[in-house]
Formats: sequence, C-alpha cells, structure tokens
Amino acid sequence: MDRIQLSPDLELSRLVYGLWRIGDDADTSPKHVEAKIEACLAQGITTMDNADIYGGYTAEAIFGAALKASPSLRDRIEIVTKCGIVAPAGRHSAVRGKHYDTSAGHINASVEASLRDMATDYIDLLLIHRPDPFMDPDETGPALDALVASGKVRAVGVSNFRPWDFSLLQSSMEAELITNQIEMSLVATDSFTNGDLAYLQERNIAPMAWSPLGGGSLFKPENQRLMTVLERTAGEQDVDATAVAVAWLLAHPARILPVLGTNNPGRIGKIADAAKVTIDRQTWFELYTAAIGKQVP
Ligand SMILES: NC(=O)c1ccc[n+]([C@@H]2O[C@H](COP(=O)([O-])OP(=O)(O)OC[C@H]3O[C@@H](n4cnc5c(N)ncnc54)[C@H](OP(=O)(O)O)[C@@H]3O)[C@@H](O)[C@H]2O)c1
Repeated sequence: MDRIQLSPDLELSRLVYGLWRIGDDADTSPKHVEAKIEACLAQGITTMDNADIYGGYTAEAIFGAALKASPSLRDRIEIVTKCGIVAPAGRHSAVRGKHYDTSAGHINASVEASLRDMATDYIDLLLIHRPDPFMDPDETGPALDALVASGKVRAVGVSNFRPWDFSLLQSSMEAELITNQIEMSLVATDSFTNGDLAYLQERNIAPMAWSPLGGGSLFKPENQRLMTVLERTAGEQDVDATAVAVAWLLAHPARILPVLGTNNPGRIGKIADAAKVTIDRQTWFELYTAAIGKQVP
C-alpha cells in the first residue's frame, strides 16, 4: 500500500478507513473493532478517520475502547478526527439546534473530548468538519496553530471547504492546512470540474475523498449502467467492482486518499485491491462518462 506524505511530519496510508458507521455495526465490541482495524492493517491501511459527531458523539469512544483493550495498536495507526459540528445529541443534547462552532473554546473542548474518548494523548490530523458561515478566521486559525504547537494535534486540515473557505482560514494561520476531505466518487463527480480539486492540485495539497462508493448508492438500480462498466473492468483485472471504483479515484493525478466506509471486515481486502488496479486514460473516461450519463463535449 502506498503512503502519502501530507506534510514534512505526517504520512498517511493511501487508503484510509472511515469510522462514521462504526456505531451502526451490529457488533461494536472492542474485539470486533480490533478485528476491523487488523483487517485494515493487513492491507497496509494504517490511517483511521473519525469525527467527534459520528454516532451522535459515540464513535470516538467505541473506537477508543478497542485502543484501550489493545494499547499497542496506537503506534501502528494514524488517527484523523474532526470537530466543529454541534448537534443535539450525546454531550451536546442540550443545544437548541444543529449548528457549527469554530470558536477556540469549542475546538479546544472538542479536542480534549476526542483525546479522552480515543484514549490517546495526540491526534495525528484534526479537521474542521464543515465550513462555518459564522467563522472568525482570526480566532479559528490561531486556535489550530496553538493545538499544533502544544503537540496535542500533529497537523490540521479541513473538510467540505470550498476554495474561498480554505484560503480564508489559511490566511489567518501559521500551520499549513494539509488536506481538504471532500465528497468524491463516481456518483459525486462535481469536484473534478468545479474548481475544488483544481485549487488543491495547484497547491500540491492531497485531498481525502469521503464516501468513495457513494455511501453504497453505487449499487442502486439507477447506477446499473455504471455498474456494468465497473463489473466489466473488474472482470478483466480479476478484482471486485468496488476496487475499480476506488482505483478510479487513485488513478487521478491529485493524489486522492479515498476513505473507505465498509463495516464488513471481509470487504476491506476486496476494496483495497484498488491499489493493484490499472486505470488508463480511456478507462478513466469510460467510467466518468458512464457516471455522468453523457459523453464529454
Ligand atoms: N468529512 C465528511 O463530511 C464525511 C462525510 C461522510 C463520510 N465521511 C468519511 O468517509 C467514510 C466513508 O464513508 P462511507 O461509509 O459513506 O463510504 P463508502 O465506502 O462510500 O460506503 C460504505 C457503504 O457502502 C456499503 N458497501 C460497500 N461495499 C458494498 C457492496 N459490495 N455491496 C453493497 N454495499 C456495499 C457499505 O456496507 P457494508 O458496511 O455492509 O460493507 C457501507 O454501508 C466515513 O466512514 C467517514 O470517515 C466523511
């Protein structure tokens, strides 16, 4: 499995394992969570993507329980987590409505809770989860800088930011924002043409792609035409169609890091076969045009 250097101090595995659905699994025991982590490690997937809000503020603790049960896991993985969304659930059940909070006080409190829940004394990469229309960059930027300086967070980035959100926050801080985690897949192709990816490529910032299988929507009947092309390519290369869908992201020159979401340990290896799939230019466009439902002009 390739690794990607996002900053001089931080390298992540090219494929990342996402923990959004960890609480939806029928089995949330530390033993089963550890089995999923081990299934990832067996493929060279060492980076785990979490967020304070996942599972109504429970996902970090579910994941952390596995790290507490097997403390040696911590040194074998990199932990990405996010903050900034406040919804009436769990420790925020008293708030009146869902909102964003990128104040220094909220970011610091969220990081402390993440560290505690995941039983760790540092987070490898902290992301601001969503652009906050009420953000004061002169407060948020220095708060992120201070977290990096403290060593509680090794690096910082953002998620779902448009180029203007990214440059606004970056303009108020010393540390580099080292990634933007955005939705990219064969069922979410806008970033390839709307400037989001171009902005990151111009700055040599490797993006992370959330929901690389469209959160499972790839398998819906309306995507049958696309699935047919995926299945044919998969058959030619003796892999699963999911591996081809992820390989389509890996093939792009932007150095995309897809974040996989399966809860099924048996599927992790099949999807990770993406690393051995070859997608040439014509195949890339064949999949793209099947995805957008028309030829390029
Ligand atoms: N930054 C953000 O705003 C944001 C937003 C959303 C997600 N994320 C991150 O991205 C990660 C991945 O998102 P995701 O879970 O939506 O990713 P995904 O990999 O696109 O979708 C995973 C879903 O697809 C299903 N699936 C996989 N293979 C399948 C197959 N062969 N047949 C049928 N269903 C299949 C999985 O079911 P099984 O579990 O049964 O395999 C699971 O429900 C999250 O965990 C999170 O870390 C970030």
